[in-house]
Amino acid sequence: MTKKIFFIDLPKKVNQVVDLYGWVQTIRKHGKINFIDLRDSTAVIQVVGAEELADLHPEEVVKIKGTVALRGERYVNKNLATGTIELQAETVTKISSAKTPPFPLNTDGYEIDEETRLKYRYLDIRRERMTRNLQLRSQLVWKVRQFLFNHHFLEVETPILTKTTPEGARDFLVPSRLQKGKFYALPQSPQQYKQLLMVAGLERYFQIARCFRDEDPRRDRAYGEFTQLDMEMSFVNQEDILKLTEEMFTTIVEELFPDKKISQKPWPRLTHAEAAKKYKSDKPDLRKDKNNKDELAFAWIIEFPLFNEQRSQDFFYGSGNSKFAPSHHMFTAPHPDDLALLKTNPLKVRSLQHDLVLNGFEVGGGSIRIHQKEVQNQVFDLIGFSKEQKKQFDHLLEAFEFGVPPHGGIAPGIDRLLFAILGEQSLREVMAFPASSGGKIAVMKAPSTATPEQLLELGIKTDDHQK
Ligand code: AMO
Repeated sequence: MTKKIFFIDLPKKVNQVVDLYGWVQTIRKHGKINFIDLRDSTAVIQVVGAEELADLHPEEVVKIKGTVALRGERYVNKNLATGTIELQAETVTKISSAKTPPFPLNTDGYEIDEETRLKYRYLDIRRERMTRNLQLRSQLVWKVRQFLFNHHFLEVETPILTKTTPEGARDFLVPSRLQKGKFYALPQSPQQYKQLLMVAGLERYFQIARCFRDEDPRRDRAYGEFTQLDMEMSFVNQEDILKLTEEMFTTIVEELFPDKKISQKPWPRLTHAEAAKKYKSDKPDLRKDKNNKDELAFAWIIEFPLFNEQRSQDFFYGSGNSKFAPSHHMFTAPHPDDLALLKTNPLKVRSLQHDLVLNGFEVGGGSIRIHQKEVQNQVFDLIGFSKEQKKQFDHLLEAFEFGVPPHGGIAPGIDRLLFAILGEQSLREVMAFPASSGGKIAVMKAPSTATPEQLLELGIKTDDHQK
């Protein structure tokens, strides 16, 4: 194959003869002249020809040799990135034929049953809106990386096969073959690893981190896995974290989404108590016009209570005898002014948690962390951890004995943030292969059964319904 020419670059190649590779999108006949829209990952170009274009079908993959020509002024299409030019076809070679897709690809797709879209996701992504969403996602992550590299951050990967990292959801377990009867847990977030990296002296860490949580899906919550921009910094106070995050997203949003307008700069800050009183919500939608998709109302919520009253369904925490569940997670530092209340009235203790809210969605959460062993132990006791349960976190407390810097961070959700910026209908619209109902990855038919040999090797017996 010759060097691929991307259609977005064609306006620079007027009068050149080129080989274009792409998908036939639409075919229009005007007497003896045929027009097709040819698509690649970057743009659509109009191709004009005679009988050489007569026998094409939508979604076929073709090579078309032709000359890039300027369109007459009357025919310029301002809605198309290549609207000033067209390709005058000379020869056409079919590379792959295509069956008729199970649903139209030239609509926004919302009208199509989602299970079917997910089953044929590779076709669904061909629609302009979905390709665009994935392009924006990629550019968002690229700009985040650029910003953070310019601010002394280091990108580090942390293990996926790991130990429970409680964030309040159920864990996914993976059986260990080498240590039969033992299980890895997939990380609900890299929380403890990023704190250990601060002890390691890296000072500023980030990761585009896959997180795994076994919880029911919602419009703004993916089932199974999602992606966080996980960040941690040493020698910072809460103000530093809020300022850096705000600068990063203000710059990126203004560059990447010029049609969107941030309603208020700097972003308003509300204490948890204020938000609860004024909006009856800890993630209020502060847009002036709640139907305006182009208005972005970012806000910080701070001074959350450190603990919520533990309800019976909070089975993840403690031995069941305690009254207190962490409002964020158990590594969040208490507000320094409220330390004494830990002993007398824990429910009154405020924390150094910060949530980032956008148009009524929580798009990020973080905190200054506890870095004193005694305070961490006090919090474990209040949650009601038994000796055994505390042992699970020995590595962290031990690490704190080797020179721990004060530290804190935040983790904006990449999927959640993009979904809220775009005003999309669900988080799945900004994910390539999201799970559908029942936790199914429709395109691959996952999850699937294991073979008897695999189970034997893992020392696992399953119930009959496995067969
Ligand atoms: P938290 O649990 O608040 O904090 O998560 C941070 C952000 O991750 C996103 N998020 C999700 N996105 C899609 N689907 C889900 N199921 C889902 N769950 C969470 C949200 C949320 O605001 N370790 C801490 C962060 C820290 O303290 O630095 C944590 O994971 O955008």
